[in-house]
Amino acid sequence: MELRGRDLLAVADLRPDELTGLLDRAVALKRGWDPGTPLERRSIALIFLRPSNRTRVSFEAAIARLGGHPIALFDREIEMGKRESVGDVGRIMDRFVDGLVARIPSDRDLRGLAGAMGAPVINAMTDLGHPCQILADCLTVQEQLGRLAGARITFVGDGNNVCNSWIEAAQVAELDLRVVTPPGYGPREPVLARSRPDEGRGSVTVTNDLAEGLAGTEVIYTDVWTSMGQEEQHEDRRQDFGPYQINESVLERAPAGVRVMHCLPAHRGEEITDGVIDGPQSIVFEQAENRYWVQLALLSAIFGSAEPSS
Ligand code: CP
Ligand code: NVA
Repeated sequence: MELRGRDLLAVADLRPDELTGLLDRAVALKRGWDPGTPLERRSIALIFLRPSNRTRVSFEAAIARLGGHPIALFDREIEMGKRESVGDVGRIMDRFVDGLVARIPSDRDLRGLAGAMGAPVINAMTDLGHPCQILADCLTVQEQLGRLAGARITFVGDGNNVCNSWIEAAQVAELDLRVVTPPGYGPREPVLARSRPDEGRGSVTVTNDLAEGLAGTEVIYTDVWTSMGQEEQHEDRRQDFGPYQINESVLERAPAGVRVMHCLPAHRGEEITDGVIDGPQSIVFEQAENRYWVQLALLSAIFGSAEPSS
């Protein structure tokens, strides 16, 4: 696996063997493999133009574990695109730090930053994708089902960033992915077209029919109905997504033993009920923990530890 010095802007940036290599590295780290301190005397900037708990904390903890120094910057400080241009932010960052982790709404701006920098840039979520989340989710599915290729996963919710990254993962990891959304909230056609599985690698089915999407599934995955930046649409979305709530009655109708995942933060009582998220079929908190192990794997691969020996 050669991720050294590379950006990670989308799941589709990874070849299947690179994804497998990253997950193997995360497994080794969880088992106690010591990645050393490849970030010693190096700094990584983190730009967060949107709120974060898991992504920022897991990245900062992983950077510190690898001997590096995280520098977190928020919207009020950086005012990217307002105080100075995206390109200028990237050019300046490149002279100070060894890498950048960025959560910014616009995927185009993320790519602008990456284009302005020689140092690696990692997507910590845009409106178009959330690759680090889905890498951790792939690890969780692999742990829970004992395999990743062929896993039957049903995403129920909005066809935006998290869903888009699942669609890309379907091809890279050869998943059997169903996407269930209310009418009008499906994934955008360019995302589907770009990731259209071919050569027999994985499959993506999009439907508005929850029962169809849940038939035979092994994992139900949901996300908030109202994403960051969509707050003014909250009431409309509550109406439109209401029939797609993951609740006890949905679980009763789903295959026995199905696991429930959620990227978090959860809007309890909207897309998921307390009974489900806190219930025996939920693997949400194992999933959240895996954010740390995958960030550690990703950073250690990009910033240069040797391969784990097992
Ligand atoms: N799942 C996720 O990205 O969480 P945060 O928004 O808290 O980082
Ligand atoms: N779709 C959500 C994911 C949060 C991790 C959002 O963009 O707010």
